[in-house]
Amino acid sequence: MTGRPTALVTGASRGIGFAIAHRLAEAGYDLIVCARRAGTVADAGRRLASTGARVHAEQVDLAAEEDVRRLIEVCQERCDRLDVLVLGAGIGTAGPIEEVPLRRFDKVFAVNVRAPYALVQALLPLLRKGAAANPGRGAKIVALASITGIYPSPGLAAYGASKAALGALCRSVNAEASASGVSATVISPGYVDTDMTEGVRDEVDPATMISTSDIAELAMSVTRLSVNAVVPELVVTRPGGQLHRA
Ligand SMILES: NC(=O)c1ccc[n+]([C@@H]2O[C@H](COP(=O)([O-])OP(=O)(O)OC[C@H]3O[C@@H](n4cnc5c(N)ncnc54)[C@H](OP(=O)(O)O)[C@@H]3O)[C@@H](O)[C@H]2O)c1
Repeated sequence: MTGRPTALVTGASRGIGFAIAHRLAEAGYDLIVCARRAGTVADAGRRLASTGARVHAEQVDLAAEEDVRRLIEVCQERCDRLDVLVLGAGIGTAGPIEEVPLRRFDKVFAVNVRAPYALVQALLPLLRKGAAANPGRGAKIVALASITGIYPSPGLAAYGASKAALGALCRSVNAEASASGVSATVISPGYVDTDMTEGVRDEVDPATMISTSDIAELAMSVTRLSVNAVVPELVVTRPGGQLHRA
């Protein structure tokens, strides 16, 4: 791409991923963004480019191995280095453990865990180059997990398990790569007001949910930290007496 810092943001067409991508674009990053649906990711790419950032938008189904491979190739072809990797794409599923079919469990893990693992594995060399280009700051991975990966929520076992696994992946990145400048932060929020929480709006007033701009603010703070400050996890709860609930 250019000499400017570069970020890959998955799940950037809407919700939290779009909010973070927008803040990165405003902060002077060139972007590669992806999402599952061609129309929404192209539209997001245009909106992000209107900030003046160079944006490449790619339609990618992260549940499909060949698409993950193509996304990796796009990054390798277009980027000399990667400064920020935002693992934003994720899918939910709801239902008691006895009722969620294993094929649904596998899909959730494919998108929420396997694709992030494959991206981190293949893109670590570019992230190490990003860290070398900016030794004071290093390169950052920011992964969107969930409070359900830490505290149980009835009906969210598969989703929570996938987010716990994503957190473990990020902690391993810190153990293996933070000494050479690549660190990972997992952000674990309760309900954020996005399309994903549309189904719980009858029980939880969206006005009381965490905002996408709150999460984007945390993600941007992480990108500004020095290489010496490794933040493994940020847990974000909604106000109230039961702080551990989604
Ligand atoms: N909202 C919450 O309450 C909440 C709380 C904690 C954690 N999180 C996590 O935060 C992240 C963002 O959540 P959100 O609420 O912003 O979600 P969202 O509004 O549902 O957006 C999901 C994003 O991921 C993309 N995506 C979904 N499946 C994909 C696939 N198979 N391949 C590629 N991209 C895919 C979507 O693309 P399309 O537009 O093309 O579908 C969209 O850009 C997720 O990982 C979620 O688990 C959310």
